[in-house]
Amino acid sequence: MSRLLIVDDEQEVRNFFAYLLRNKPIHLTVASNAAEANRLIQVGTYDAALLDLKLPDGTGLDILRLLKKVHPTCRVVLMTGYSTVKSALEAIRLGADDYIEKPFSDIDELERLIDSLLVPQPLGGHDDRLRIAKEAGLVIGTSHAMNELVSLAWKIARKNVTVLIEGETGCGKEVLARFLHLASMRRDEPFIEVNCGALTETLLESELFGHEKGSFTGALSLKRGLFEVASRGTLFLDEIGDATPSIQVKLLRVLETKSFLRVGGEHTLRTDARIIAASHVNLPHAVATGTFREDLLYRLDVVKLSIPPLRERRADIPLLARHLLDQNDGKNFSFSADALTLMHAYDWPGNIRELANVVKRALALADGDTFVLTSEYLPQALFPVAETAATYSDRSPSLPTVSSPVPQLDRELDTWKHMILTAWNQDGTVSLPEVLTHVKELERIVGEAFVKKALRETLGNRKKASEQLNISVRTLRYLLHEK
Ligand SMILES: Nc1ncnc2c1ncn2[C@@H]1O[C@H](COP(=O)(O)OP(=O)(O)OP(=O)(O)O)[C@@H](O)[C@H]1O
Ligand SMILES: [Mg+2]
Repeated sequence: MSRLLIVDDEQEVRNFFAYLLRNKPIHLTVASNAAEANRLIQVGTYDAALLDLKLPDGTGLDILRLLKKVHPTCRVVLMTGYSTVKSALEAIRLGADDYIEKPFSDIDELERLIDSLLVPQPLGGHDDRLRIAKEAGLVIGTSHAMNELVSLAWKIARKNVTVLIEGETGCGKEVLARFLHLASMRRDEPFIEVNCGALTETLLESELFGHEKGSFTGALSLKRGLFEVASRGTLFLDEIGDATPSIQVKLLRVLETKSFLRVGGEHTLRTDARIIAASHVNLPHAVATGTFREDLLYRLDVVKLSIPPLRERRADIPLLARHLLDQNDGKNFSFSADALTLMHAYDWPGNIRELANVVKRALALADGDTFVLTSEYLPQALFPVAETAATYSDRSPSLPTVSSPVPQLDRELDTWKHMILTAWNQDGTVSLPEVLTHVKELERIVGEAFVKKALRETLGNRKKASEQLNISVRTLRYLLHEK
């Protein structure tokens, strides 16, 4: 028999649950205040608990903390009035599974919720979450930060609360917004993205709110705005930090009243669109400098999801690279250990978008039969700036340090320099022909490296490659030892 704890100070609520669950195989324990709940938690064990947020002698959050400490596997749902949604979200951060709003409007849903709480959790079972992440193109990875974030996103996706997504450029704000939409009850309705920084103010206004026929020159017909089109779905306001002051005022009004006017319109229209906003600028900072309205930030920031930059979850790079290879027809390709080492050490200012570009570039450079992408296929930026080469006092100031993107060539140059300098420093007899053989050898290695590079850049087109190098196709063949 499952054990359920219910804590609520209202007698009717406790009676209601007793009645609702009377025929279920549930052992119900009730408490009417925090002190009683705390005592019950110390002496008993529970599979699930429903906690009222506001109690005469404490809060549901305190009980939640204690429960999670004493019975970590106990599943918890907070019960709250609408005005306390923010605290309910705080509860989810603290480990609660969900929250429900009182008064209960849908008894069937409540029963389903309780049933689902009491079903034992399959080991490691986040199947639905993973399936939807995959559908949204979201790799969660193994980092703690990202797993926490997606777990929070998953829990609040079904709520209609406004979500604010923060994160550096290219770190996956749009991917996360899609995940939220697909994980919500609105998944079959439209997901509409609008970039608040990409359009002029007038255009953006008519995009968002629509316009009446003839409301301005060029408004030849009535146009429905995105708040209308996305009314049952999700409206993703990207780069909200770039919205002008006048758009900000209008957005604030819609968020407050859920209603708006078309440009040139007289009738108030209602919208039920779920709003997700994203910004790569730090909005509290923008509020401090006066470019973003504080009241709008407050309305948007009901739940904040901050995506960590890629350099703070380097452990996820191999998995992301694998995903991006698969996505770009590179199923048969993989990165070599030395390539992954360089990728791991790099800081990725452009985050996953930059990684995606690096993967696409490597695939474009690969000859048809190269399945292991070594560091040679990575762009210069990923190579650490080379140590200043050993310099000679007589010519040191003029030669800038250039790092080689081809480690093999680098090694050859080092060996070559070493040999020549050893010969030079040798007292007595030196065989010059032998030194010159090394020079010839270097000529061949350098030639071959350039030819291979040109072939990668021209996707294997020998004619183009030889033109690019200003040599004949014959010389090209010679340098490839094809004679
Ligand atoms: N977690 C992830 N798993 C797989 N791919 C991802 C992930 N995050 C981002 N990407 C990929 O990286 C690229 C950039 O992601 P996205 O457009 O969501 O970033 P963004 O934060 O919205 O960037 P910007 O600030 O420039 O708008 C996309 O190609 C996306 O598919
Ligand atoms: Mg984006």
